[in-house]
Amino acid sequence: MILVTGGAGFIGSNFVLDWLARGSEPLVNLDKLTYAGNPGNLAAVENDPRLVFVQGDIADRALVTQLLRDHQPRAVVNFAAESHVDRSIDGPGAFIQTNVVGTFHLLEEVRRYWQGLAEPERGRFRFLHVSTDEVYGSLGREDPAFAETTAYAPNSPYSASKAASDHLIRAWHHTYGLPTLTSNCSNNYGPRQFPEKLIPLMIHNALQGKALPVYGDGANVRDWVYVEDHCDAIGAILARGRPGETYNIGGNAEKTNLQVVHALCDLLAELRPGTDYRALITFVTDRPGHDLRYAIDGAKIARELGWQPRESFASGLRKTVQWYLANQSWVNSVTSGEYQQWVDRNYATRAVA
Ligand code: NAD
Ligand code: DAU
Repeated sequence: MILVTGGAGFIGSNFVLDWLARGSEPLVNLDKLTYAGNPGNLAAVENDPRLVFVQGDIADRALVTQLLRDHQPRAVVNFAAESHVDRSIDGPGAFIQTNVVGTFHLLEEVRRYWQGLAEPERGRFRFLHVSTDEVYGSLGREDPAFAETTAYAPNSPYSASKAASDHLIRAWHHTYGLPTLTSNCSNNYGPRQFPEKLIPLMIHNALQGKALPVYGDGANVRDWVYVEDHCDAIGAILARGRPGETYNIGGNAEKTNLQVVHALCDLLAELRPGTDYRALITFVTDRPGHDLRYAIDGAKIARELGWQPRESFASGLRKTVQWYLANQSWVNSVTSGEYQQWVDRNYATRAVA
């Protein structure tokens, strides 16, 4: 069996659903259920006997020890994190606590557990840390894409906290021999993404006839990967990745933010006609320290693990918009309460540019 952390969030829940759909191996999901974690994300499998859900913190060493002892996992996949850049600018403390301190406590307990294993379990054990391309910093428009050898240069509290956690993973492998794997992925999109992130926020606002707040001039570039492709890549790294290595994961889909928002408006105009969605686009004050461009060189994972993204941006975005249109009750369930306070805090101070 495997232990997954953060499996009630966006990518983690897609991974859990995919894992249980594909095979028979059981899974324990440790999730703190922050504002971003939602048990409803796993409603489809809540009665599946192969899934054990435990609400708790990766920094709770007694709990982590008990879970490792009771379930004897062959691998740990660490999704748990604070994940939103704007929130990290608003309040970096939680990012340091979970992404750095939490990862440290988790690593230490996993190391003790792994050191107590006998062969062959000890040699086969894996700790996969799910990280981000943001650790590499920002690219110029013509720069070559991020490779695994690109120097770390994080620019936001979020990316600095993820970079710190990546360094811990590296050191625990180098010093203690813990069989770690690190994945650095680009921007994900797809079902169940919390509507604080660009794509679901724009869909949510557009359907309510609200302004679509584009930071700065909308020319910042991200490489978009459909979440199922990311989960598939994680499966490949877990199965065939070399301990101590890092693997970049991308979607071969570099887009400016304005291109993304235009594509969303056009899809909504087709699927939910009656509103001039493009007229809702509003340019607002930029994100402080806003990284200009991220791009992924996916040659290593293609060469070593034979992995490539399957979904095109056009087909993935269509599936995503269709999912949100069909799951408005999910959106309503996650946009009450705390969400509104966040939206007020983040956007009220952003003057229209
Ligand atoms: P998310 O914010 O949607 O979900 C995070 C999950 O972690 C939530 O379920 C939350 O309850 C849980 N969590 C938070 N703190 C915890 C703690 N201390 N202990 C246990 N659980 C805790 O995030 P996401 O977008 O699904 O991202 C998952 C991982 O993938 C993160 O590590 C993130 O850095 C990384 N990542 C995200 C993207 C992206 O585009 N979203 C891209 C690359 C990498
Ligand atoms: O690159 C991987 C990273 O992608 C992950 O590690 C992060 O967890 C994930 O949140 C994401 O970070 P970004 O900052 O790129 O994602 P976000 O959806 O917040 O923003 C995407 C782009 O859209 C970015 O250039 C900022 C812009 N933006 C965002 C919001 C929320 C806007 O223009 N308006 C907005 O309202």
